[in-house]
Amino acid sequence: MKRKSNLPRYTTINRVELSKKEEEEYQKIKEEIIQKKINDENFNIQQNDIKEFMAQEAISSQKIFNKLTDDLKGFGKIDSLLKDDNLEEIMIIGSNKPVYIYHRTMGMMITDINLTEIEIKQIINKIANYVQRKIDKQTPILDARLPDGSRVNATIPPVTADGSTITIRKFKKEQLTIFDLINSNTLTAHLAAFLWINIDGLNVRPANIIISGGTGSGKTTTLNTISSFIPEQERIITIEDTLELQIPQEHVIRTETRPSNIEGKGEISMDVLLKNSLRQRPDRIIVGEVRSKEAMTLFGALNTGHSGMGTLHANSTHETITRLTSPPMNVPSIMINSIDFILMQNRIYHPEKGIIRRVTEVSEVVGMESDKPQLNNIYKYNFASDTLEFTAVSSIAMNEIASMKGLSNKELLNELREREKYLLKNINNKRSIYETKDIMNKFHDS
Ligand SMILES: Nc1ncnc2c1ncn2[C@@H]1O[C@H](COP(=O)(O)OP(=O)(O)OP(=O)(O)O)[C@@H](O)[C@H]1O
Ligand SMILES: [Mg+2]
Repeated sequence: MKRKSNLPRYTTINRVELSKKEEEEYQKIKEEIIQKKINDENFNIQQNDIKEFMAQEAISSQKIFNKLTDDLKGFGKIDSLLKDDNLEEIMIIGSNKPVYIYHRTMGMMITDINLTEIEIKQIINKIANYVQRKIDKQTPILDARLPDGSRVNATIPPVTADGSTITIRKFKKEQLTIFDLINSNTLTAHLAAFLWINIDGLNVRPANIIISGGTGSGKTTTLNTISSFIPEQERIITIEDTLELQIPQEHVIRTETRPSNIEGKGEISMDVLLKNSLRQRPDRIIVGEVRSKEAMTLFGALNTGHSGMGTLHANSTHETITRLTSPPMNVPSIMINSIDFILMQNRIYHPEKGIIRRVTEVSEVVGMESDKPQLNNIYKYNFASDTLEFTAVSSIAMNEIASMKGLSNKELLNELREREKYLLKNINNKRSIYETKDIMNKFHDS
């Protein structure tokens, strides 16, 4: 007997409703088109071909034609999911299993969509075609970006045992800003002001920051929002596996890795891009996700005076350091000192609030003790009250900024409060990332 899932259901709105007879006719034409495609790999269906197929079967329904052209333009049955901005993730786990989604407020859900292996392959081939890459038995994994910016990972057997899979991290049309993060309590205006001071470093001491957390905890989003604190006169270089970051500044060079081709040649790795970026006189290097050899190059750069930010997949600050200092990253412990702050982010299920995302810790790397990096807690999340508390220990980075600017610690804390007030004053109204960056720039005139 099949187990029935208790997950909430998501019902798709079928945009083109067909009667039973129309549905049969539609399927018939569709199968003919698929057959033709199977017989002739180079056959690239156009709207006129659909008309011809329909004419041959003496079918003239406009609705059927519309549905077939929808299939042609988009990604078939999952189109309505792609259009829903409330979804974070679309997950196809194999044939004849429901398509799962991760809803922004409801979490994991089951949709009423089932796909056959042929339908899944069609979607994958369409994506592969679009990014001009191959997916086959030799290279059964595909990483790509959809026209709308969504990030896709697709696999085919043998790497996935039960058929082909597709995972789509949907691109959020309205990018979240630091104001959204404050509004939704992901972080406080106080922490935002603290990060602001440390990221621009009052133009004398910009901090290096790692944002750490579990899968889908919102690391990339937080990194993106705090990039609006980077001063305009800086030259920013971003390095990513799949372009996701949207940095609002104008002077940005965006770089993206490239996998090797069918002969196993032509790979451009994160490490190669990072090394190259160092020849491009960057002020700020932003690495989408640090996971491998490039960590060493990044820390080399940070140790020689560049500033950087990046995300890393780990569940605690200690795990962050362990991952950085173990294979394949292998950063020597002594170099960990070049990070100023590790910010931990979590996705939490709250009994009343549902799924929430919270910064749960900010710690400063304060030095070494018998070869072990020492951490000092600056912000700590309290689960019971759902608040992020400033633990108010002194911060080395803040002290250095103060002394380099000839300010007392009290004066610097005053600046922090001014920025916090300014953020809160500007918090209302939905803003774009570009407006947010302009607001940050105007602070100094206010
Ligand atoms: N603070 C937040 N509040 C609400 N939604 C958020 C927040 N941060 C991120 N999201 C949403 O959660 C999803 C995942 O976010 P994001 O890509 O930033 O996570 P991530 O930790 O970088 O994931 P991955 O581990 O896959 O790299 C996105 O759809 C994003 O819009
Ligand atoms: Mg990410």
